[in-house]
Amino acid sequence: MRIAVIAGDGIGKDVTAEAVRVLNAVSRAFGRPIQLEHLPWSADHYLKTGETLPANGYDLLRTFDAVFVGALGDPRVTDNRHARDILLGSRFELDLYVNYRPVKLLDDRLSPLKDRGRKDINFVVFRENTEGVYVSVGGRFKAGTDDEIAIQEEVNTYKGVHRIIRHAFEFAQANGLTRVCMADKSNAMQQGHALWQRVFKAVAAHYPGITATHQYIDAMAMFLVQDPAQYQVIVTNNLFGDIITDIGGALQGGLGMAGSGNIHPGKTSLFEPVHGSAPSLAGKNIANPIGAILSTALMLETLGARDEARAVEAAVETAIARGQTTTDIGGPLGTREAGAFIAEQLKLRK
Ligand code: NAD
Ligand code: IPM
Ligand code: MN
Repeated sequence: MRIAVIAGDGIGKDVTAEAVRVLNAVSRAFGRPIQLEHLPWSADHYLKTGETLPANGYDLLRTFDAVFVGALGDPRVTDNRHARDILLGSRFELDLYVNYRPVKLLDDRLSPLKDRGRKDINFVVFRENTEGVYVSVGGRFKAGTDDEIAIQEEVNTYKGVHRIIRHAFEFAQANGLTRVCMADKSNAMQQGHALWQRVFKAVAAHYPGITATHQYIDAMAMFLVQDPAQYQVIVTNNLFGDIITDIGGALQGGLGMAGSGNIHPGKTSLFEPVHGSAPSLAGKNIANPIGAILSTALMLETLGARDEARAVEAAVETAIARGQTTTDIGGPLGTREAGAFIAEQLKLRK
């Protein structure tokens, strides 16, 4: 396996070091070579060179089996230009239309909800990842004046909506799940989200064994807190998926716990924690590396290394069960020590 590693900015660097430690440990434990190539693309690199990524950057990424990203975002780059090129650019250019964000509570003690535990918090979110408001179609007229007009269109295509909804149903079917819930705002957004309504109904009709339900996104935000047990598979658009997967992070014990995949089935895909660069925590050895480490498990699974993926998940569960974690989830360890404990579990299983 050849993996490109973009540690990026802030705590992205801290947690990527631990994800790499775990990948090296899993490679040794299973005798499967994993070749990691570090790319310097980051705010530092952009501020130093003026380049966000090289001209052939996306083509370069396509030569790898997968890409791992820590996080991108730096207060010195106020327009977020490098993150848009590197992260959003890769999602668009590599056509990574499936944003796969599992929400699984790994220990009852980490539940933020009264009387809810592992049995209640275990679902996946499929976030459309190539359209919506993220395409930046629009513009500003008379910017900076009291007459300013700012337009940011939401793009919804039949192809884009269909392929993510279909993927959600296929995932449910392949995993023996029986419920898919689609969230939109079709009561207010009567053009774009009418398309989501139509396509959802049409696709659902092909899966008679799966109960297809719909919720408005505002109600879903409430139900995620009040009754998360009702969900198995959620499918929604780019922006709503972004927002509810931060709630999903909280449901897992904190944003530092959540991993994700940006996937085009069968093509080079990109894996990253759900959280950002958390500048106030950066370089202090306090960020939780578990979201990044679980993202490596999603990457291994997507590349067909299922036993390796299971082993990484099991190692994370052991760390949590034994309280060998960072302070955000109640443990006594720093980022490096927490990552080393998880890597150690992989060595022990040999
Ligand atoms: P953030 O996810 O970086 O952090 C929000 C808060 O969540 C932190 O202050 C912290 O309390 C907690 N947190 C997040 N990750 C944690 C971890 N690993 N361990 C412990 N606690 C953790 O979100 P933000 O502050 O809104 O954004 C900071 C920067 O990151 C911005 O530039 C933003 O654009 C960027 N960002 C990047 C990505 C990405 O690269 N995928 C994702 C989200 C945000
Ligand atoms: C995420 C992040 C990104 C997004 C930002 C950094 C543009 O929040 O991956 O969840 O909104 O998609
Ligand atoms: Mn986000």
